[in-house]
Amino acid sequence: MDDATLAIGEETIELPVVEDSEGGRAVDISALRSTTGLITYDKGYGSTAETESAVTYLNGEEGILRYRGYSIEDLAEKSTFLEVSYLLYYGTLPNAAQLEDYVETIRRHTLVREDMRHLFDVFPADAHPMQMLASATSAMATYYPDALDPLDPVSADISARRLIAKLPTIAAWAFKHSVSQPFIYPRNELEYTANFLNMMFSLPVEQTTPSPAVSKALDVLFILHADHSQNLSSSAVRLVGSGQANVFSSVSAGIHALSGPLHGGANQQVVEMLDAMLADGGNSDSWITRAKDKDDPFRLMGFGHRVYKNFDPRARLIKKYARDVLDEIGTDDPVLELAMELEQHALADEYFVERKLYPNVDFYSGIIYRAMGFPAEMFTVLFAIGRLPGWLAQWREMITDPNSRIQRPRQVYTGATERPYIAMDQR
Ligand code: ACO
Repeated sequence: MDDATLAIGEETIELPVVEDSEGGRAVDISALRSTTGLITYDKGYGSTAETESAVTYLNGEEGILRYRGYSIEDLAEKSTFLEVSYLLYYGTLPNAAQLEDYVETIRRHTLVREDMRHLFDVFPADAHPMQMLASATSAMATYYPDALDPLDPVSADISARRLIAKLPTIAAWAFKHSVSQPFIYPRNELEYTANFLNMMFSLPVEQTTPSPAVSKALDVLFILHADHSQNLSSSAVRLVGSGQANVFSSVSAGIHALSGPLHGGANQQVVEMLDAMLADGGNSDSWITRAKDKDDPFRLMGFGHRVYKNFDPRARLIKKYARDVLDEIGTDDPVLELAMELEQHALADEYFVERKLYPNVDFYSGIIYRAMGFPAEMFTVLFAIGRLPGWLAQWREMITDPNSRIQRPRQVYTGATERPYIAMDQR
């Protein structure tokens, strides 16, 4: 591959161009500052790769998403969430013995330490479950001091499996705390998602048996959320992890990053927006007009994506599942009809067409979650459970990379130049 030539006034320098395994090209500017004194400026990293990665391939122009080379369409149809989590972390599909061992370890680690229960007591009743999830994940590090060294591969594996096994328990307990209900302990005879649904919706006085169709649909939703290359929360995990913080702290940073409305928090906002539209008479056009008005901060939640300039392939799959699940559950949520209408109108509107704003993963997921019985505050928590394997895979890739460096961006300083200190009586 030919080098790129950068001309700065009279001076020119050659910069190597590296090619990725799908033919994408990147100019390697890592020696730029040491050879020229210059740095690059790229707000929000729109044109910058911080790392090489072999975990997930994402092509936003064509709407392609593959984990370790396998299409999410195939994985959603043929795999399970736990198998996908193994695939993301270790890089290959497990054979039967490896999968059995993996699933068994996860099954045997679903309990959280009993004293951790009391952590939830100190949160106010109206605490957001996402904040409780992040705090409890961070607190997990205090319970496993023997397995915190991020550079020890055995500790890393144990911690990763502990996180996959325990996050649903913590998530369900965060929910139970928010509705003042007793915590339900894991039942290890249940599959991963069925166990989570049981901890969410059962009571000591009344067991609910999760429907296999709902468990399967949730499993698929988790698969579709499992990784998304260098997104905000995965980058947060890698950033914190690059300082060799333990994996619990790094994942906790990812949960915080996911909580914002421009990232994972959007799924809650979509349903709240659709509810508000319904209450407003169900006229999607006036809301679209608002979204286009530059003087109005309102944005159509669930639309647009930094990378996808085409239909988000996850949204396409979720839309298909939304119909199946709602038919199975028998819910006739008017919000789904409104969502379809809004999608049609937005996709035909010049503003959205010009800017290539398509529905993203969050547009339909909230509607399914609601049909399953989850309150809106839990939607982003569900996203976190689904995204955990991706965070762990990205973290492992970063920590085992011999060329990994602490992440430390440069800046273009725009502050005051040096000035003398002003005494108090002269200000
Ligand atoms: N509604 C109205 N206008 C929008 C929307 C939207 N949802 N999204 C983007 N735009 C407009 C912007 O105003 C901008 O217009 P302009 O060129 O006239 O100034 C243009 O489209 C480009 O948008 P940016 O904000 O520059 O795109 P960016 O890549 O920075 O942001 C983001 C992407 C944050 C996802 C944005 O599209 C958004 O806010 N969407 C709504 C929130 C959402 O659904 N987030 C979930 C993302 S998926 C996920 O994290 C899992």
